[in-house]
Amino acid sequence: MSERATRVVAVANQKGGVGKTTTVVNLAAGLALLDKTVLVIDLDPQANATSGLGLERSPGVSLYPVLTGKADVADIIQPTPYANINIIPAEIDLAGAEIEIAREENHLAVVRREIDRVLTAGVFDYVLMDCPPSIGILMTSSLAAADSIIVTMQCEYYAMEGLSVISQLVQQMRESGVNPDLTIEGIVMTMFDVRTRLASDVVSEVRQHFGDLVYDTIIPRSVRISESPSFGEPVLFFAPSSSGSIAYKALAQEFIKRHSLPV
Ligand SMILES: Nc1ncnc2c1ncn2[C@@H]1O[C@H](COP(=O)(O)OP(=O)(O)O)[C@@H](O)[C@H]1O
Ligand SMILES: [Mg+2]
Repeated sequence: MSERATRVVAVANQKGGVGKTTTVVNLAAGLALLDKTVLVIDLDPQANATSGLGLERSPGVSLYPVLTGKADVADIIQPTPYANINIIPAEIDLAGAEIEIAREENHLAVVRREIDRVLTAGVFDYVLMDCPPSIGILMTSSLAAADSIIVTMQCEYYAMEGLSVISQLVQQMRESGVNPDLTIEGIVMTMFDVRTRLASDVVSEVRQHFGDLVYDTIIPRSVRISESPSFGEPVLFFAPSSSGSIAYKALAQEFIKRHSLPV
């Protein structure tokens, strides 16, 4: 496989409500503030990353018409109100893409093909894909297109359940040759509640199992984080000095550091 100058990272977990979208939006903001150019691809028909970055959902503006050959990917990329962050938005129609893609021969490769077209322009340092919370064709095709995966986990019981499913998917992708180099590059623990013993226990348990795979940065549960999506703003801009903002800035720094290390 050819080396890409742009790193394509899918943020995934087939569970909903584990902080995937929040992490995509705020990691993008953190990277942007560090002068990295980021393309967010919203692959969830719920379009929470799209609205969280201040865009309205609009019919025909998503990967859906691209995947069905009705639009060019370059025309679908939208600026956001934030410097260095562009987005391929989602819309509810994206749900229909599952069926359309399934009809294509070699269907797991179609998202990859379109992303590769974007990458040849070479303007993005990172592509962050916000995956839907179910194992469907959109999620598997995203993983087929990714260089690596970040799994977000809520600091609660059963947090690790999601990971075994993704690990199996990764193994299948590697062994079948769909994406031979795919790796889980990191686990980000989210919604950490400092007041509970449970949260600390879960973090220790996950660290015990997965060691260095777990990011040092832990994202706290924060009211500011949960408020910011309704304003269409990443928490880094909505409440810059809040604990959530500080944590996501640290995550962006750790992310860059991890990617700069020779693999
Ligand atoms: N660290 C956090 N503190 C408080 N609320 C959070 C935090 N992270 C996410 N949330 C909220 O929890 C809900 C689920 O998060 P989200 O990122 O949408 O998860 P997913 O994309 O995995 O479904 C959202 O309402 C979001 O605003
Ligand atoms: Mg989401």
